[in-house]
Amino acid sequence: MNKYSELANSVTFTKRKSVIAQIHQDPSLEYIGKGRSAVVFKIWGANKALKVFYPGYTNVAREEAAIYNVLQNSPYYPTLYEAGRNYLVIDLIEGHTLFECLAKGIRVSSDKIKEIDVALNLAREKGLNPSDIHLRNIFITKEGKIKLIDVARFRQAKDCSQWGDLKSAFYKYYSRTFFPKRIPVLILNLIAALYKKNIIPLTKKRTPKSVVFFLC
Ligand SMILES: Nc1ncnc2c1ncn2[C@@H]1O[C@H](COP(=O)(O)OP(=O)(O)O)[C@@H](O)[C@H]1O
Ligand SMILES: [Mg+2]
Repeated sequence: MNKYSELANSVTFTKRKSVIAQIHQDPSLEYIGKGRSAVVFKIWGANKALKVFYPGYTNVAREEAAIYNVLQNSPYYPTLYEAGRNYLVIDLIEGHTLFECLAKGIRVSSDKIKEIDVALNLAREKGLNPSDIHLRNIFITKEGKIKLIDVARFRQAKDCSQWGDLKSAFYKYYSRTFFPKRIPVLILNLIAALYKKNIIPLTKKRTPKSVVFFLC
């Protein structure tokens, strides 16, 4: 198998009108997801994921690697195997993100919410300030365990209310018997966009009744 650095270098991007698209990758890589800073692949033949950062995001790659190093040996965070200028190699997580759970109607129990709090407190005990905790960065594995990814913002100084907002929406809406457990992706994305623009202020004190579902 190619070295991880070669695999990362095989990933190329193009930028058109400020939209970055990924255009090529080694055949031993299978696309599994993307976010605001990177594209993530399954590495065939290894139980690992390769996160390749977009051009211009090398500082984020460095920061995320440093934070994973602080979180090593915790059951709630993937192991970091290698970090390069623009990539990370971490455990491949098999399961579903909370976003996928909602989109597919996989029920999320309050025990899972409590376990996520344990995972976040563990990071706090290590001097970190967990931020950017949203549905696509939280996994429930196929064994039913919690794994958190995308920790690059865990050292930011400013407090992030996302997880508190999600939690209050969980208890206020989702956990109710008649609340739908499956929510179309389009609606989830719409709510996320409105939340990011502060149009839906899902604060703990003021969650508008009109927002029937929760989330970001
Ligand atoms: N280790 C992993 N195992 C399985 N899927 C992953 C893994 N890391 C990331 N993903 C998928 O790729 C998506 C983007 O990864 P993420 O690290 O959140 O990138 P970004 O920093 O750009 O937000 C995630 O939402 C998830 O669906
Ligand atoms: Mg992410």
